[in-house]
Amino acid sequence: MRVLSGIQPSGALHLGNYFAMMKRMIEHQKNHELFCFIVNYHALTTVKDADFLRKNTFEACVDFLALGIDPDKSYFYVQSDIPEVTELTWILSNITEMGLLKRAHSYKDKIAKGIEPNHGLFAYPVLMAADILLYGAEIVPVGKDQKQHVEMTRDIAQKFNSNFGEVFVLPEAEIQGEVATIPGIDGQKMSKSYGNTIDIFAPKNALKKKVMSIVTDARAIDEPKDPDACNLFAIYSLFLDEQGRRELKERYLKPGLKYGEVKKELVEVIWNYFEPYRDKREALLADPDYVHDVMLAGAKKARGVAVQYLEKARAAVGLNY
Ligand code: TRP
Repeated sequence: MRVLSGIQPSGALHLGNYFAMMKRMIEHQKNHELFCFIVNYHALTTVKDADFLRKNTFEACVDFLALGIDPDKSYFYVQSDIPEVTELTWILSNITEMGLLKRAHSYKDKIAKGIEPNHGLFAYPVLMAADILLYGAEIVPVGKDQKQHVEMTRDIAQKFNSNFGEVFVLPEAEIQGEVATIPGIDGQKMSKSYGNTIDIFAPKNALKKKVMSIVTDARAIDEPKDPDACNLFAIYSLFLDEQGRRELKERYLKPGLKYGEVKKELVEVIWNYFEPYRDKREALLADPDYVHDVMLAGAKKARGVAVQYLEKARAAVGLNY
């Protein structure tokens, strides 16, 4: 199967990114043909600081490599190194109805949050459709909030194929139940734009500060606690297997649990979980030339697939005069 997903470099990568997408992608590379990329064209819709975008794009590459993406086994690249995607976006734009884009939850949410709506933000789902269709992806692992975007991609592909002939593969979103929505320290979805993230590679004192500020309820120590309504429990659970989760649940249900103690434990759990990757990450950060070489080689390989789909699409709509 051809599996594809991208991640925005709009800030440091956090536990939400890791459990909703990165971890699954790294696992998928064992059994599937994997396309994994950093979507810096998408990040341009909201990031207006060039240095910030450069830094976060580079660091996202480094984080993936440190965590185990193998550029020889997969297609690992930066979106803007494949300019074909912008051409396909334009072709697809002309069969994408305004009504479809107006119904996008993600667009409406961003506007509601006060983000200035520009054309790029409105057209975001068309660029994402191009990202997916350009490589014939079948499975797209994403968080729950991106499900609608994948459905829009199917709609666009279907319309293209019925108007111009079978060119594109219809993709399917892969949403994993338990990691569908990962709460941040305030209980809302963990997201850079809510300022509620716990970053994967934060220094220990910053990690501690974040974990200690996870919002919990005001139940007294001698009261039983409700694991199902607790952010701290939800975040801790990401690192536990079924048995660990059951044990933590039991501690919650018995009087005497101190949230502060659970938080201190969680700091260690998160720190130790990412420990094996820290040295590799430091080494990569110190060798930008190597990282750039890896990314350019990845782009070259991905482009080999992209040009084939683009050529078919150009011919299908009549751009090959
Ligand atoms: N919109 C996705 C997000 O914010 C990122 C993305 C861009 C993507 N292109 C993609 C995800 C293609 C999957 C496939 O999470």
